[in-house]
Amino acid sequence: MPRSVQPPCVVNIEDLRRVAKRRLPRVVFDYIDGGAEDELTLRANCRAYETVTFRPRCAVATPACDLRITVLGTPLSMPLILAPVGSSRLIYPRGEEAAARAAGAAGIAYTLSTLSGCRLEDVAVASKGPVWYQLYLVGGRDCALSAIERARAAGFSALVVTIDTPVAGMRERDIRNGVKELLSRKLGEMLPFVNQLLTKPRWLASFLADGGLMKFPNVIIPGQGPMLYADVTTALEQSMVTWHDLRWIREAWSGPIVIKGVHTGDDARRAVDTGADALVVSNHGGRQLDGVAPTLRMLPEVLASVGDRIEVLLDGGIRRGSDIVKALCLGARAVLAGRAYAYGLGAAGSAGVERAIEILRSDLTRTLKLLGCASIAELDRSYVDVPAELEK
Ligand SMILES: Cc1cc2nc3c(=O)[nH]c(=O)nc-3n(C[C@H](O)[C@H](O)[C@H](O)COP(=O)(O)O)c2cc1C
Repeated sequence: MPRSVQPPCVVNIEDLRRVAKRRLPRVVFDYIDGGAEDELTLRANCRAYETVTFRPRCAVATPACDLRITVLGTPLSMPLILAPVGSSRLIYPRGEEAAARAAGAAGIAYTLSTLSGCRLEDVAVASKGPVWYQLYLVGGRDCALSAIERARAAGFSALVVTIDTPVAGMRERDIRNGVKELLSRKLGEMLPFVNQLLTKPRWLASFLADGGLMKFPNVIIPGQGPMLYADVTTALEQSMVTWHDLRWIREAWSGPIVIKGVHTGDDARRAVDTGADALVVSNHGGRQLDGVAPTLRMLPEVLASVGDRIEVLLDGGIRRGSDIVKALCLGARAVLAGRAYAYGLGAAGSAGVERAIEILRSDLTRTLKLLGCASIAELDRSYVDVPAELEK
Protein backbone atom coordinates (compact mmCIF):
# COMPACT_ATOMS: atom_id res chain seq x y z
CA MET A 1 0.00 0.00 0.00
CA PRO A 2 1.51 3.41 -0.97
CA ARG A 3 2.73 5.62 1.89
CA SER A 4 0.44 8.40 0.66
CA VAL A 5 -2.60 6.52 2.02
CA GLN A 6 -1.06 5.18 5.21
CA PRO A 7 -0.75 6.85 8.62
CA PRO A 8 0.33 9.51 9.42
CA CYS A 9 -0.77 10.90 6.01
CA VAL A 10 -4.14 9.17 6.05
CA VAL A 11 -5.87 8.44 9.33
CA ASN A 12 -9.52 8.82 8.32
CA ILE A 13 -11.79 9.12 5.28
CA GLU A 14 -11.50 12.91 5.26
CA ASP A 15 -7.73 12.47 4.79
CA LEU A 16 -8.40 10.21 1.78
CA ARG A 17 -10.65 12.93 0.41
CA ARG A 18 -7.77 15.42 0.70
CA VAL A 19 -5.34 13.08 -1.10
CA ALA A 20 -7.91 12.47 -3.86
CA LYS A 21 -8.37 16.21 -4.24
CA ARG A 22 -4.61 16.59 -4.79
CA ARG A 23 -4.42 13.84 -7.45
CA LEU A 24 -7.60 14.52 -9.43
CA PRO A 25 -8.51 17.38 -11.76
CA ARG A 26 -11.17 19.64 -10.24
CA VAL A 27 -13.82 18.41 -12.65
CA VAL A 28 -13.35 14.79 -11.53
CA PHE A 29 -12.99 15.56 -7.81
CA ASP A 30 -16.14 17.69 -7.84
CA TYR A 31 -18.01 14.96 -9.72
CA ILE A 32 -17.40 12.72 -6.69
CA ASP A 33 -17.61 15.30 -3.93
CA GLY A 34 -20.52 17.42 -5.10
CA GLY A 35 -24.26 17.17 -4.69
CA ALA A 36 -27.40 18.76 -6.10
CA GLU A 37 -28.21 22.48 -5.93
CA ASP A 38 -27.34 23.93 -2.49
CA GLU A 39 -26.02 20.55 -1.29
CA LEU A 40 -28.35 20.75 1.73
CA THR A 41 -29.15 17.04 1.69
CA LEU A 42 -25.52 16.09 1.05
CA ARG A 43 -24.51 17.90 4.25
CA ALA A 44 -27.59 16.80 6.20
CA ASN A 45 -26.85 13.13 5.49
CA CYS A 46 -23.52 13.49 7.34
CA ARG A 47 -24.80 15.77 10.10
CA ALA A 48 -27.63 13.42 11.04
CA TYR A 49 -25.06 11.08 12.59
CA GLU A 50 -23.87 13.86 14.91
CA THR A 51 -27.32 14.04 16.51
CA VAL A 52 -27.20 10.41 17.68
CA THR A 53 -25.13 9.82 20.82
CA PHE A 54 -23.80 6.57 22.29
CA ARG A 55 -24.67 4.86 25.60
CA PRO A 56 -21.66 2.64 26.26
CA ARG A 57 -21.51 -0.23 28.74
CA CYS A 58 -18.16 0.09 30.41
CA ALA A 59 -15.97 -2.54 32.09
CA VAL A 60 -17.30 -5.22 29.73
CA ALA A 61 -14.67 -7.50 28.15
CA THR A 62 -15.00 -7.90 24.38
CA PRO A 63 -11.88 -9.88 23.40
CA ALA A 64 -12.89 -10.45 19.79
CA CYS A 65 -15.62 -8.38 18.19
CA ASP A 66 -17.60 -10.23 15.56
CA LEU A 67 -18.31 -7.94 12.62
CA ARG A 68 -19.83 -10.58 10.37
CA ILE A 69 -23.33 -10.35 8.99
CA THR A 70 -25.45 -11.84 6.22
CA VAL A 71 -27.28 -9.76 3.66
CA LEU A 72 -29.75 -11.53 1.37
CA GLY A 73 -28.31 -14.78 2.67
CA THR A 74 -24.75 -13.85 1.63
CA PRO A 75 -22.14 -13.74 4.39
CA LEU A 76 -20.16 -10.48 4.54
CA SER A 77 -17.11 -9.87 6.75
CA MET A 78 -18.66 -6.59 7.97
CA PRO A 79 -21.93 -4.67 7.47
CA LEU A 80 -20.62 -2.60 4.54
CA ILE A 81 -21.32 -2.79 0.80
CA LEU A 82 -19.67 -0.61 -1.83
CA ALA A 83 -22.40 1.50 -3.49
CA PRO A 84 -22.63 1.93 -7.27
CA VAL A 85 -20.45 4.84 -8.38
CA GLY A 86 -20.85 5.52 -12.10
CA SER A 87 -17.83 6.34 -14.27
CA SER A 88 -15.33 5.09 -11.70
CA ARG A 89 -12.96 4.59 -14.63
CA LEU A 90 -12.61 8.39 -14.82
CA ILE A 91 -11.36 8.36 -11.24
CA TYR A 92 -8.70 5.70 -11.74
CA PRO A 93 -7.66 3.39 -14.61
CA ARG A 94 -10.02 0.40 -14.73
CA GLY A 95 -11.62 1.94 -11.62
CA GLU A 96 -14.59 -0.45 -11.31
CA GLU A 97 -12.31 -3.49 -11.41
CA ALA A 98 -9.97 -1.86 -8.89
CA ALA A 99 -12.80 -1.18 -6.43
CA ALA A 100 -14.35 -4.62 -6.90
CA ARG A 101 -10.96 -6.26 -6.27
CA ALA A 102 -10.53 -4.39 -2.98
CA ALA A 103 -14.08 -5.24 -1.87
CA GLY A 104 -13.64 -8.93 -2.68
CA ALA A 105 -10.31 -9.09 -0.85
CA ALA A 106 -12.02 -7.59 2.22
CA GLY A 107 -14.93 -10.03 2.07
CA ILE A 108 -17.59 -7.44 1.29
CA ALA A 109 -19.90 -6.91 -1.70
CA TYR A 110 -19.33 -4.49 -4.57
CA THR A 111 -22.16 -2.92 -6.59
CA LEU A 112 -21.40 -2.15 -10.24
CA SER A 113 -23.23 0.79 -11.85
CA THR A 114 -24.82 0.38 -15.29
CA LEU A 115 -22.91 3.55 -16.18
CA SER A 116 -19.49 2.01 -15.71
CA GLY A 117 -16.44 2.07 -17.92
CA CYS A 118 -15.43 -1.58 -17.39
CA ARG A 119 -17.19 -4.63 -18.81
CA LEU A 120 -19.35 -6.30 -16.19
CA GLU A 121 -17.73 -9.67 -16.93
CA ASP A 122 -14.27 -8.23 -16.13
CA VAL A 123 -15.56 -6.73 -12.88
CA ALA A 124 -17.03 -10.07 -11.78
CA VAL A 125 -13.68 -11.76 -12.43
CA ALA A 126 -11.77 -9.03 -10.56
CA SER A 127 -13.62 -9.68 -7.28
CA LYS A 128 -13.25 -12.74 -5.08
CA GLY A 129 -16.42 -11.72 -3.24
CA PRO A 130 -20.09 -11.11 -4.06
CA VAL A 131 -20.92 -8.61 -6.80
CA TRP A 132 -24.26 -6.89 -7.36
CA TYR A 133 -25.41 -5.19 -10.57
CA GLN A 134 -27.13 -1.79 -10.41
CA LEU A 135 -29.63 -1.33 -13.21
CA TYR A 136 -30.60 1.87 -15.01
CA LEU A 137 -32.95 1.54 -17.94
CA VAL A 138 -30.65 3.60 -20.18
CA GLY A 139 -30.97 2.37 -23.74
CA GLY A 140 -34.45 0.93 -23.22
CA ARG A 141 -35.94 -2.38 -22.22
CA ASP A 142 -34.14 -4.69 -24.68
CA CYS A 143 -30.84 -3.16 -23.74
CA ALA A 144 -31.63 -3.71 -20.02
CA LEU A 145 -32.75 -7.28 -20.65
CA SER A 146 -29.47 -8.13 -22.35
CA ALA A 147 -27.48 -6.54 -19.47
CA ILE A 148 -29.57 -8.53 -16.96
CA GLU A 149 -28.79 -11.74 -18.83
CA ARG A 150 -25.07 -10.90 -19.01
CA ALA A 151 -25.05 -10.10 -15.28
CA ARG A 152 -26.66 -13.43 -14.48
CA ALA A 153 -24.20 -15.34 -16.65
CA ALA A 154 -21.23 -13.49 -15.12
CA GLY A 155 -22.31 -14.43 -11.57
CA PHE A 156 -23.75 -11.20 -10.17
CA SER A 157 -25.82 -12.29 -7.18
CA ALA A 158 -28.30 -9.41 -6.77
CA LEU A 159 -29.90 -6.80 -9.02
CA VAL A 160 -30.09 -3.27 -7.59
CA VAL A 161 -32.75 -1.10 -9.22
CA THR A 162 -32.26 2.63 -8.60
CA ILE A 163 -35.59 4.49 -8.56
CA ASP A 164 -34.61 8.10 -7.78
CA THR A 165 -33.27 9.27 -11.16
CA PRO A 166 -36.16 10.33 -13.43
CA VAL A 167 -33.76 13.13 -14.45
CA ALA A 168 -30.19 13.83 -13.44
CA GLY A 169 -30.03 16.12 -10.38
CA MET A 170 -28.80 19.69 -10.79
CA ARG A 171 -25.11 19.32 -9.95
CA GLU A 172 -23.99 22.91 -10.20
CA ARG A 173 -20.29 22.17 -9.75
CA ASP A 174 -20.38 20.00 -12.89
CA ILE A 175 -21.84 22.84 -14.93
CA ARG A 176 -19.26 25.34 -13.67
CA ASN A 177 -16.41 22.91 -14.36
CA GLY A 178 -17.54 22.47 -17.97
CA VAL A 179 -18.47 18.78 -17.90
CA LYS A 180 -20.75 19.23 -20.91
CA GLU A 181 -18.13 21.12 -22.89
CA LEU A 182 -15.34 18.66 -21.99
CA LEU A 183 -17.53 15.81 -23.22
CA SER A 184 -18.46 17.61 -26.45
CA ARG A 185 -15.27 16.40 -28.21
CA LYS A 186 -15.18 19.85 -29.91
CA LEU A 187 -11.88 21.58 -29.35
CA GLY A 188 -13.35 25.10 -29.37
CA GLU A 189 -15.86 24.28 -26.64
CA MET A 190 -13.39 22.25 -24.58
CA LEU A 191 -10.57 24.78 -24.62
CA PRO A 192 -11.70 27.09 -21.76
CA PHE A 193 -11.90 24.05 -19.44
CA VAL A 194 -8.87 21.91 -20.33
CA ASN A 195 -6.46 23.71 -18.04
CA GLN A 196 -7.79 21.83 -14.98
CA LEU A 197 -6.77 18.58 -16.73
CA LEU A 198 -3.32 19.82 -17.69
CA THR A 199 -2.49 20.78 -14.11
CA LYS A 200 -2.82 17.11 -13.09
CA PRO A 201 -0.41 15.50 -15.59
CA ARG A 202 -0.15 12.19 -13.72
CA TRP A 203 -3.90 11.71 -13.70
CA LEU A 204 -4.08 12.80 -17.34
CA ALA A 205 -1.35 10.40 -18.46
CA SER A 206 -2.97 7.45 -16.71
CA PHE A 207 -6.43 8.41 -18.01
CA LEU A 208 -5.16 8.56 -21.59
CA ALA A 209 -3.19 5.32 -21.18
CA ASP A 210 -6.44 3.70 -19.99
CA GLY A 211 -8.14 4.65 -23.26
CA GLY A 212 -9.36 8.19 -22.55
CA LEU A 213 -13.02 9.09 -22.98
CA MET A 214 -15.04 5.97 -22.51
CA LYS A 215 -18.02 4.27 -23.90
CA PHE A 216 -20.35 2.34 -21.63
CA PRO A 217 -19.63 -1.32 -22.40
CA ASN A 218 -22.63 -2.58 -20.42
CA VAL A 219 -25.13 -0.42 -22.29
CA ILE A 220 -25.31 -2.02 -25.71
CA ILE A 221 -27.88 -0.15 -27.78
CA PRO A 222 -29.49 -2.58 -30.24
CA GLY A 223 -28.17 -1.90 -33.75
CA GLN A 224 -25.67 0.69 -32.51
CA GLY A 225 -23.27 -0.86 -30.00
CA PRO A 226 -21.97 0.56 -26.69
CA MET A 227 -23.44 3.90 -25.65
CA LEU A 228 -21.11 6.87 -26.02
CA TYR A 229 -20.05 8.63 -22.84
CA ALA A 230 -21.54 11.98 -23.86
CA ASP A 231 -25.08 10.64 -24.03
CA VAL A 232 -25.60 10.12 -20.30
CA THR A 233 -27.74 13.06 -19.14
CA THR A 234 -30.12 12.71 -22.06
CA ALA A 235 -30.20 8.95 -21.71
CA LEU A 236 -30.98 9.11 -17.99
CA GLU A 237 -33.91 11.37 -18.76
CA GLN A 238 -35.29 8.81 -21.19
CA SER A 239 -34.71 5.89 -18.91
CA MET A 240 -36.82 6.45 -15.84
CA VAL A 241 -38.03 3.36 -14.11
CA THR A 242 -41.63 3.04 -12.88
CA TRP A 243 -43.30 0.55 -10.57
CA HIS A 244 -44.76 -0.95 -13.70
CA ASP A 245 -41.25 -1.75 -15.02
CA LEU A 246 -40.46 -3.56 -11.81
CA ARG A 247 -42.83 -6.31 -12.93
CA TRP A 248 -40.92 -7.28 -16.07
CA ILE A 249 -37.61 -6.78 -14.28
CA ARG A 250 -38.88 -9.19 -11.58
CA GLU A 251 -39.70 -11.73 -14.30
CA ALA A 252 -36.35 -11.34 -16.06
CA TRP A 253 -34.22 -11.71 -12.91
CA SER A 254 -34.74 -14.75 -10.74
CA GLY A 255 -32.31 -13.72 -8.00
CA PRO A 256 -32.80 -11.12 -5.25
CA ILE A 257 -33.85 -7.59 -6.21
CA VAL A 258 -32.81 -4.58 -4.15
CA ILE A 259 -34.70 -1.31 -4.65
CA LYS A 260 -32.38 1.66 -4.11
CA GLY A 261 -33.61 5.20 -3.53
CA VAL A 262 -36.51 4.68 -1.12
CA HIS A 263 -37.28 7.84 0.87
CA THR A 264 -40.62 7.11 2.57
CA GLY A 265 -42.63 4.39 4.25
CA ASP A 266 -45.16 4.47 1.39
CA ASP A 267 -42.56 3.78 -1.29
CA ALA A 268 -41.04 1.09 0.92
CA ARG A 269 -44.42 -0.71 0.96
CA ARG A 270 -44.69 -0.38 -2.82
CA ALA A 271 -41.21 -1.83 -3.22
CA VAL A 272 -42.14 -4.83 -1.11
CA ASP A 273 -45.45 -5.29 -2.94
CA THR A 274 -43.58 -5.34 -6.25
CA GLY A 275 -41.45 -8.24 -5.07
CA ALA A 276 -38.30 -6.55 -3.75
CA ASP A 277 -36.14 -8.66 -1.44
CA ALA A 278 -34.34 -5.72 0.16
CA LEU A 279 -34.32 -1.97 -0.14
CA VAL A 280 -31.88 0.87 0.35
CA VAL A 281 -33.06 4.00 2.12
CA SER A 282 -31.09 6.39 -0.06
CA ASN A 283 -31.25 9.90 -1.50
CA HIS A 284 -28.39 9.17 -3.90
CA GLY A 285 -25.93 10.84 -1.55
CA GLY A 286 -27.71 14.20 -1.95
CA ARG A 287 -27.11 14.20 -5.72
CA GLN A 288 -30.73 14.15 -6.88
CA LEU A 289 -33.55 16.05 -5.11
CA ASP A 290 -31.95 18.59 -2.80
CA GLY A 291 -33.96 19.33 0.32
CA VAL A 292 -35.05 15.78 1.13
CA ALA A 293 -34.47 14.59 4.68
CA PRO A 294 -31.24 12.81 5.60
CA THR A 295 -31.54 9.06 5.21
CA LEU A 296 -30.87 8.36 8.89
CA ARG A 297 -33.98 10.38 9.72
CA MET A 298 -36.14 8.42 7.23
CA LEU A 299 -34.93 5.03 8.43
CA PRO A 300 -37.40 4.68 11.38
CA GLU A 301 -40.39 5.44 9.12
CA VAL A 302 -39.28 2.87 6.55
CA LEU A 303 -38.61 0.26 9.23
CA ALA A 304 -42.00 0.84 10.80
CA SER A 305 -43.55 0.29 7.40
CA VAL A 306 -41.69 -2.81 6.13
CA GLY A 307 -38.95 -3.72 8.61
CA ASP A 308 -40.60 -7.01 9.52
CA ARG A 309 -40.95 -8.04 5.84
CA ILE A 310 -37.59 -7.37 4.15
CA GLU A 311 -34.00 -6.37 4.84
CA VAL A 312 -33.58 -2.60 5.08
CA LEU A 313 -30.22 -1.13 4.08
CA LEU A 314 -29.22 2.53 4.16
CA ASP A 315 -26.70 4.82 2.47
CA GLY A 316 -25.68 8.46 2.61
CA GLY A 317 -23.11 10.23 4.73
CA ILE A 318 -21.13 7.24 5.99
CA ARG A 319 -17.65 8.60 6.73
CA ARG A 320 -16.74 6.69 9.91
CA GLY A 321 -17.30 3.25 11.37
CA SER A 322 -19.23 4.90 14.20
CA ASP A 323 -21.73 6.14 11.59
CA ILE A 324 -22.26 2.52 10.54
CA VAL A 325 -22.79 1.50 14.18
CA LYS A 326 -25.39 4.25 14.66
CA ALA A 327 -27.29 3.22 11.50
CA LEU A 328 -27.31 -0.39 12.71
CA CYS A 329 -28.44 0.60 16.21
CA LEU A 330 -31.38 2.34 14.54
CA GLY A 331 -32.26 -0.85 12.68
CA ALA A 332 -30.44 -0.92 9.32
CA ARG A 333 -29.16 -4.38 8.45
CA ALA A 334 -26.06 -2.98 6.72
CA VAL A 335 -24.98 0.21 4.96
CA LEU A 336 -23.67 1.14 1.55
CA ALA A 337 -20.94 3.72 1.12
CA GLY A 338 -20.21 5.72 -2.05
CA ARG A 339 -17.88 8.66 -1.55
CA ALA A 340 -15.94 7.05 1.30
CA TYR A 341 -14.40 4.53 -1.09
CA ALA A 342 -14.52 6.78 -4.19
CA TYR A 343 -12.11 9.14 -2.38
CA GLY A 344 -9.85 6.14 -1.77
CA LEU A 345 -10.05 5.18 -5.43
CA GLY A 346 -9.15 8.73 -6.42
CA ALA A 347 -6.26 8.80 -3.97
CA ALA A 348 -4.58 5.51 -4.94
CA GLY A 349 -6.76 3.10 -6.94
CA SER A 350 -7.37 -0.33 -5.46
CA ALA A 351 -4.97 0.31 -2.57
CA GLY A 352 -6.90 3.45 -1.68
CA VAL A 353 -10.19 1.54 -1.64
CA GLU A 354 -8.55 -1.13 0.54
CA ARG A 355 -7.44 1.62 2.88
CA ALA A 356 -10.96 3.11 3.05
CA ILE A 357 -12.39 -0.29 3.96
CA GLU A 358 -9.63 -0.88 6.52
CA ILE A 359 -10.33 2.48 8.17
CA LEU A 360 -14.04 1.70 8.47
CA ARG A 361 -13.32 -1.83 9.72
CA SER A 362 -10.96 -0.72 12.48
CA ASP A 363 -13.40 2.07 13.43
CA LEU A 364 -16.13 -0.55 13.75
CA THR A 365 -14.11 -2.84 15.99
CA ARG A 366 -12.95 0.01 18.21
CA THR A 367 -16.46 1.47 18.51
CA LEU A 368 -17.93 -1.92 19.47
CA LYS A 369 -15.24 -2.41 22.13
CA LEU A 370 -15.80 1.08 23.52
CA LEU A 371 -19.53 0.35 23.64
CA GLY A 372 -18.94 -2.94 25.45
CA CYS A 373 -20.71 -4.84 22.65
CA ALA A 374 -19.24 -8.13 21.41
CA SER A 375 -20.82 -8.32 17.99
CA ILE A 376 -22.66 -6.44 15.26
CA ALA A 377 -25.60 -8.79 15.75
CA GLU A 378 -26.12 -7.48 19.31
CA LEU A 379 -26.38 -3.79 18.37
CA ASP A 380 -29.76 -2.24 19.10
CA ARG A 381 -31.43 0.98 20.22
CA SER A 382 -30.23 0.54 23.81
CA TYR A 383 -26.71 1.62 22.72
CA VAL A 384 -27.82 5.07 21.49
CA ASP A 385 -29.81 8.12 22.44
CA VAL A 386 -31.69 9.59 19.51
CA PRO A 387 -33.20 13.08 19.19
CA ALA A 388 -36.98 13.37 19.02
CA GLU A 389 -36.92 13.86 15.24
CA LEU A 390 -35.53 10.35 14.81
CA GLU A 391 -38.13 8.76 17.07
CA LYS A 392 -41.02 7.28 15.12
C1 LIG B 1 -19.56 9.87 -7.97
C2 LIG B 1 -20.84 9.15 -7.67
C3 LIG B 1 -21.48 8.44 -8.68
C4 LIG B 1 -22.65 7.73 -8.40
N1 LIG B 1 -23.21 6.96 -9.38
C5 LIG B 1 -24.31 6.21 -9.10
C6 LIG B 1 -24.85 5.34 -10.07
O1 LIG B 1 -24.34 5.20 -11.19
N2 LIG B 1 -25.96 4.63 -9.72
C7 LIG B 1 -26.54 4.73 -8.49
O2 LIG B 1 -27.54 4.05 -8.22
N3 LIG B 1 -26.03 5.54 -7.54
C8 LIG B 1 -24.93 6.28 -7.83
N4 LIG B 1 -24.39 7.09 -6.85
C9 LIG B 1 -25.01 7.13 -5.50
C10 LIG B 1 -24.36 6.09 -4.60
O3 LIG B 1 -24.64 4.79 -5.03
C11 LIG B 1 -24.83 6.24 -3.14
O4 LIG B 1 -26.23 6.24 -3.09
C12 LIG B 1 -24.29 7.51 -2.46
O5 LIG B 1 -22.96 7.75 -2.88
C13 LIG B 1 -24.35 7.37 -0.95
O6 LIG B 1 -23.90 8.52 -0.31
P1 LIG B 1 -22.38 8.71 0.22
O7 LIG B 1 -21.57 9.07 -1.02
O8 LIG B 1 -22.49 9.82 1.18
O9 LIG B 1 -21.92 7.39 0.79
C14 LIG B 1 -23.21 7.78 -7.11
C15 LIG B 1 -22.56 8.50 -6.09
C16 LIG B 1 -21.39 9.17 -6.35
C17 LIG B 1 -20.70 9.91 -5.23
